[in-house]
Amino acid sequence: TRIEKAGYKHFMMKEIAEQPTVVDAVFDAYLTPDGDAITMDLPGVDFTKVSRVSIVACGTAYYAGLVAKYWFERYARLPVDLDVASEFRYREPPFPDGTLSVFVSQSGETADTLAALRYSDGKAAKIVSLVNSPESSIARESDVAVAIHAGVEVSVASTKAFTAMLATFVVMVLKAAVERGEMDADTLAERLTDLRKLPGLMSHAISIDGELSKAARKVAQAHDVLFLGRGQMFPLALEGALKLKEISYLHAEGYASGELKHGPIALVDKETPTVVLAPHDGLFEKTVSNMQEVMARGGRVLLISDARAIAQAGGGVWRTITMPDAPELIQPILYAIPAQLLAYHAAIAKGTDVDQPRNLAKSVTVE
Ligand code: G6P
Repeated sequence: TRIEKAGYKHFMMKEIAEQPTVVDAVFDAYLTPDGDAITMDLPGVDFTKVSRVSIVACGTAYYAGLVAKYWFERYARLPVDLDVASEFRYREPPFPDGTLSVFVSQSGETADTLAALRYSDGKAAKIVSLVNSPESSIARESDVAVAIHAGVEVSVASTKAFTAMLATFVVMVLKAAVERGEMDADTLAERLTDLRKLPGLMSHAISIDGELSKAARKVAQAHDVLFLGRGQMFPLALEGALKLKEISYLHAEGYASGELKHGPIALVDKETPTVVLAPHDGLFEKTVSNMQEVMARGGRVLLISDARAIAQAGGGVWRTITMPDAPELIQPILYAIPAQLLAYHAAIAKGTDVDQPRNLAKSVTVE
């Protein structure tokens, strides 16, 4: 079937808007109909026997893997190593007993990821893939292929596949946490309640598009843009910077907020916007001081956060985007939306080809 833009100017915007539905589809596939229990089946994977997880991917899928690392380690107490696929084989990584290898790929055909999978075959205890296409090479060559249910993604810059990967991972992490005795039934029930809030919160985030578009028009005038996030939001800073680079051709870098002082702060001047993706959490005070470091050098801070954190941030912030309050577990999934919308509107302002950015391919089948 031919995929149409359904009234949207670009596939990217259509796919951003589809995310609440996509996440619903993921939860339909891996939770009971009322969302109160996990049904995800991973034949042959016993998380009590897994000693570590190795996640390998490229591009946006790699950043989904980085969020999953924070989640697996925190909730399931499973150590995770994460690699970009093009580096993996060449460093000849050891595979301790009980290694669960996880490959993440929207297309399921990325050459580097496929090569890393083939390298791991016979070394890892089990090979699991998260893929959008169950017929793909990566799916076929895995022990267990877990569909991310994003539907066809046309825009070269990945959006809904990213959040679908995260929604799939979050269920897998909760399953691992319960199986390993790291999460009791009451806590699981609370976390599943958190997940059910996600589609509604995502719709809310999409509705603040107008505000983001205004900010993006300003950001598009810069030469360099910094993105900051800490903890589980650090991968979102990386993904926000990647999206902006890919489609607006602005130079952008994502950094862990605390790492700002170790280099990137040298780039800060009044021309360089710093986008801070930071919902309120226990470390927000530290983020406030990172923002102050930027502002003290004349830098403009675009703070994307919730009302409570925005109030705590105080004066001096260049622009704020108020996101809805969200449970901590789902914040990285929710904050993908403003990161995507910012890049989208910056690209529109620059007049670039949003769906077909120069030099990039949707699926990269060469190493
Ligand atoms: C290309 C695409 C990216 C994508 C990456 C990995 O570079 O342009 O959007 O994240 O490949 O693709 P995969 O299909 O393996 O997820």
